[in-house]
Amino acid sequence: MKASAARPATDRLARPLNSLRVSVIDRCDLRCSYCMPEEHYTWLPQGDVLSFAEIGTLVGEPAIEDLAMTTNATQLAQLAGPLRQAGLDRVTVSLDSLQSERFKRLVRRDALPQVLEGIRAAGVAGFASLKINTVVMRGFNDDELEALLEFGRQVGGEVRFIEYMDVGGATLWSMDKVFSKTQILARLEERWGPIAPCGPQGAAPAERFRLADGTCFGIIASVTEPFCRACDRSRLTADGLWYLCLYAQEGTDLRRLVRAGHPAEELAAFLRQRWAGRTERGAEERTKAPHRGALYQVEDLRQDPHREMHTRGG
Ligand code: 5AD
Ligand code: SF4
Repeated sequence: MKASAARPATDRLARPLNSLRVSVIDRCDLRCSYCMPEEHYTWLPQGDVLSFAEIGTLVGEPAIEDLAMTTNATQLAQLAGPLRQAGLDRVTVSLDSLQSERFKRLVRRDALPQVLEGIRAAGVAGFASLKINTVVMRGFNDDELEALLEFGRQVGGEVRFIEYMDVGGATLWSMDKVFSKTQILARLEERWGPIAPCGPQGAAPAERFRLADGTCFGIIASVTEPFCRACDRSRLTADGLWYLCLYAQEGTDLRRLVRAGHPAEELAAFLRQRWAGRTERGAEERTKAPHRGALYQVEDLRQDPHREMHTRGG
């Protein structure tokens, strides 16, 4: 969600406090290999998970100007319409393959028909925008870029190709599985001819491009061209820890504050102050690692589930 404020707080690198990703749950009904490849996970204690009222208090509802949801789409066939009616502005879905066997191998569930139905339902529900996130992995789905763009056109969604990131939880990550922005562009150019920029950039992580036939798509090059300098996003986990960077080791415990019953102005002042000290540039720091591999080993993830991408909300 994006917030509007007369005077947005800025951090040490002059980045505004604008965009907050809220996880409402730490569970998932899929097991994507780039996110949840393990057999067993440590879940957050149920009693720690914030109530909707507590989330409302932390988020400061009146300031919200753009509300978007990111989802794996497994429940969207039933929920796209009601969510639109309830006031949701935009939806982003994950879709990495259109081939059912391949999809099944990726997410370890036989869910492709359900997911496609969900995305189609979102396409007709009247959202201000529908984005389709595709994590591109070399040798796995790098042959499906065109098919995914075509599917996007069919459902009225814009595809965003994401480089496979070495975030917490991605224990199978290795650099040779990253299919880079340059390689994505080369692949598409080979087939469709010259590619042009598409519209202004803004703070959104995706760089947008246009094919000769007018189709726009985005690329999120977090591995080869990190965009930390423009990052205005923070994350609230389902149990109320506030992370100022996807790669951050520590979060700030807002659950304790909200449950202690501090008044809204006090919470707001605390958040602004905390943001003002923000220096994190996690993705840029990662590019300096001499032998880049998985960020955490599985034992470290079990010890603290907050290190997991699925807990931080992607
Ligand atoms: N690399 C890149 N993107 C990822 N996501 C989850 N794990 C990774 C990863 N290792 C993406 C999902 C989803 C978004 C919230 O985060 O594809 O669309
Ligand atoms: Fe896949 Fe998203 Fe679930 Fe992770 S949280 S396993 S990316 S559907």
